[in-house]
Amino acid sequence: ESYDMGGHDTYMHKEIFEQADAVDRVLRGRIDDRFSTVHLGGLNLDAREARGVRRIKILGCGTSYHAGQIGAQLIEELARIPADAEPASEFRYRNPVVDPDTLYVAVSQSGETYDVLAAVQELKRKGARVLGVVNVVGSAIAREADGGTYVHAGPEVCVVSTKCFTNTVVAFALLALHLGRIRDLSVADGKRIIDGLRRLPEQISEILAGEDEIKRLAAEYADAKSMMFIGRVRGYPVAREASLKLKEVSYIHAEAYPASELKHGPLALIEPAMPTVAIVPDDDLLEKNRAAMEEIKARSGRILAVAHQAQEKADHTIVVPKNENELDPILMGIPLQLFAYHTALAMGRDIDKPRNLAKSVTVE
Ligand code: AGP
Repeated sequence: ESYDMGGHDTYMHKEIFEQADAVDRVLRGRIDDRFSTVHLGGLNLDAREARGVRRIKILGCGTSYHAGQIGAQLIEELARIPADAEPASEFRYRNPVVDPDTLYVAVSQSGETYDVLAAVQELKRKGARVLGVVNVVGSAIAREADGGTYVHAGPEVCVVSTKCFTNTVVAFALLALHLGRIRDLSVADGKRIIDGLRRLPEQISEILAGEDEIKRLAAEYADAKSMMFIGRVRGYPVAREASLKLKEVSYIHAEAYPASELKHGPLALIEPAMPTVAIVPDDDLLEKNRAAMEEIKARSGRILAVAHQAQEKADHTIVVPKNENELDPILMGIPLQLFAYHTALAMGRDIDKPRNLAKSVTVE
């Protein structure tokens, strides 16, 4: 991608609109229809080693950590390997147990984030195998890792990460599919996921075509001093990332909670001045999510839902195209990138360089 603005006023807007092409690029040349799998050349992990992995620990910071959370869910769902994500910055300070049967995965757009790099170095010192899921080719983390996969999002200039988040999650879907097909994922499920991955670029374009409506909704909620973001299981990391996007670029306070935890405290915050963005995928938790929205409505809270069909309990719904359940999180955050962008734009914020932030944090 060139640094030419191509008619966009900000890099954030440009990069949001590059996502269909970016996803197309991360998929290109990797899908093997014959065996319903994907090939990831640089992993340096043969089938026997992949079958020996007992656990996967994903480490990253900020948006990359959130992408890693979705990645961990994809790995558990498709490869049935226990997996979780943790902020790299916390991991390296808690004297973690480094287990030889655990595969460590470091995630980073820049490949230069100090906390992630230091975690990788500490793990290597202790004999662990570390893979990188990195965007910038030849960066420090990519060089330090034993293998990995590039995210191929292209250069990301805006401090606020958008297209790299989406491509990182797609890269995790490829890793999960690859590991799954070596282990117990069926040919039929492999094919189902591949078909779903192939639908993504067109579905992303469909979401982005709804920009005018999202802009209108952003104006509607821009008076909020604080916003709640909720989701369950697949929707929860989407809520966390959307909440981070809004705070970074608009400076509106936002917090993300699992919808299931509302009644354990945060419900006390709900009132008309505290709107909620609810991630409501059409999956096995749909009714649970509807019940959470009902609780919020009963406290006069305003709700903006991101869902696969209009939600009766919500004041507004952004309807996104349905994919396979496992891949839904890839699409559900995209309208909320635009929501954060238009909220910040209406507030006159410095979109590409929010105050107090740097694109990559190369110090502790
Ligand atoms: C993203 O919008 C943020 N600016 C920030 O959280 C970022 O994702 C984090 O600093 C990690 O950066 P990296 O992906 O380059 O390692």
